[in-house]
Amino acid sequence: MKQRSFILFFLCLIFPVYIIRAQQKNVFVVKANEVKATIEPTMWGVFFEDINQGADGGLYAELVKNRSFEFDVPMMGWREIKKDGADGSYLITNKGVSSTANTRYIRLESLSGKGYGISNEGFRGMGIKKDNGYDFSVWARQVNGGSVSLLIELAGPDGSRLGSATLKPEGAEWKKYTVSFKSVATEAKAHLELLLDGKGAIDLDMISLFPKDTWKQRAGGLRADMVQLLADMKPGFVRFPGGCIVEGRTLDERFQWKKTIGPAEDRELIINRWNVEFKHRLTPDYFQSFGLGFFEYFQLCEDIGAEPLPILNCGMACQFNTAEVVALDQLDPYIQDALDLIEFANGPVNSTWGKKRAEMGHPEPFNMKMLGVGNENWGSQYIDRLKLFTKAIKEKYPEIKLVNSSGTDPDGDRFDYLNTQLREMKADIIDEHYYRPPQWFLDNVKRYDSYDRKGPKIFAGEYAAQSVRTGSPDNKNNWQCALSEAAFMTGLERNADVVTMASYAPLFAHAEGWQWTPDLIWVDNLRSYGTANYQVQKLFSVNRGSVVVPLLINNEPAAGQKGLYGAASIDRKTNELILKVVNAAENPQDAEFITEGFRGKKGTMTELSSGKLELVNSFEVPLAVGPVQKPVQVRSGKLVVSLKPWSVNVIRVKM
Ligand code: AHR
Repeated sequence: MKQRSFILFFLCLIFPVYIIRAQQKNVFVVKANEVKATIEPTMWGVFFEDINQGADGGLYAELVKNRSFEFDVPMMGWREIKKDGADGSYLITNKGVSSTANTRYIRLESLSGKGYGISNEGFRGMGIKKDNGYDFSVWARQVNGGSVSLLIELAGPDGSRLGSATLKPEGAEWKKYTVSFKSVATEAKAHLELLLDGKGAIDLDMISLFPKDTWKQRAGGLRADMVQLLADMKPGFVRFPGGCIVEGRTLDERFQWKKTIGPAEDRELIINRWNVEFKHRLTPDYFQSFGLGFFEYFQLCEDIGAEPLPILNCGMACQFNTAEVVALDQLDPYIQDALDLIEFANGPVNSTWGKKRAEMGHPEPFNMKMLGVGNENWGSQYIDRLKLFTKAIKEKYPEIKLVNSSGTDPDGDRFDYLNTQLREMKADIIDEHYYRPPQWFLDNVKRYDSYDRKGPKIFAGEYAAQSVRTGSPDNKNNWQCALSEAAFMTGLERNADVVTMASYAPLFAHAEGWQWTPDLIWVDNLRSYGTANYQVQKLFSVNRGSVVVPLLINNEPAAGQKGLYGAASIDRKTNELILKVVNAAENPQDAEFITEGFRGKKGTMTELSSGKLELVNSFEVPLAVGPVQKPVQVRSGKLVVSLKPWSVNVIRVKM
């Protein structure tokens, strides 16, 4: 009797737990034999724009700001130095040449012989690393037969000397001089001093300082840590150079790729349109030197194995700004730019533009396959111009796939108009953008289920969940946003027959030089980290499968039932089944995967999770949200795992 009541008591204790667990068990069916779609190698890519100090002061490793005195205020970033009562003067001089690139230089005159010169503050300081080498270069000449030397010093905020060198220009002709030195200390806020040694005057231009440890150690190259973060994502494509930067505030300030190639000193600097865009984040010192130009973008794509996707201006300035358009009968030069770009990227070395590519050191073609015409342009003015571009490009290069804009938003009148027009035009690829609250991403996970399977392909070209609202400086790259993007991305992958490309935007932000949040990767002068959103993008990208197979809950795609979202694919190269499962619920959930048409045993599960939706990664804790791996096992055709609350999980099992 005693024993029976004990058993009853015990059953009462465990029964509710058993019911709860039974309720929590979610059965997923994977149909590994039913291929639904091919996943293009371009599926997960990156969107680069020179916003937030993304290029100058960011990816482009130049440490000197306003190196050729071409900013509107020619001495911006520079200041005069008079050490120990030294005397001298400077004069910004115009060369009076017909070229619009690099028109100015500086004349420095020392009256005291020592201690007179100028100093450059860098981009929010210069990030300098102990024992690293630095390449200084300058165009210089002596004035009036003088014999003045230049003392080059890297200094810390307290004036401590980090590294130095001297050089003596010879003669009255402009010549480029270079000298290298090492730094004895690490400093995030260093500056560069140039002091004259000797009485007399000297002319200087294109004053430049680069670290030696650039990506692939290329002189005048890119910041290695930033490129590495991109390379680690194994992106399928890089879209460049933006974004609104393509359009410019005015047509004059639009991005013109031809002005971004050839010798750095011949690239004409212009104001960056983000300089004055947000009153609450004015950045008066934000210009585009184009040291990172179209050749370098193509080279970057090649380095990291990504397809290049350049976007060109379609004859329209940003419609949020001047909305200026070029008259239809004046569009030819714009269209010619597009044709010439294809020749620059792919043409033989004996073609006009292919020759220029070869002269820059790349005789092999870059194999460009896609080209964007216009960014976030809308209205009939866009369609009218696009038709002319499309006709000319398709006539000469039918193999190039064209990416067309569907405007700024994923719905509304503008979108509906463009979507209808572009489908009538049989567009190759339509670029859709969504900067929306996290809930929008969860609610829209089935967005593409009903898209025309035979119509244009979709490029989810710019998206990011906004924790506050679009354009708010208070938006955060928190886990809630990243989680909702991951859920949405399962919907993109499930529809890979329609959605062939996707990229989060914007990509980079400098902690002291940003205009827009949220952003995928944050940097300061020495450090960089990937946000929680970056971890999601990377996890999806490095686990891109070759083909989509169904992942079902109760015979329906896993698209939000009990907060669960998922996609399944097969990697044909490694012969693995890949399951991506997001638990957007606040409770843990058990998942049982019944695998049909598949035999496998062992695998791994990579998990991103946090118990706090507001958690963000930071310079101090770069992996607050970071991947955790564990082994998983298939038993009798079933894989059972526990999904943490608010988690993104990728399971790979060898077939
Ligand atoms: O990503 C930031 C901006 O958002 C892009 O420049 C523009 O295309 C979009 O409006």
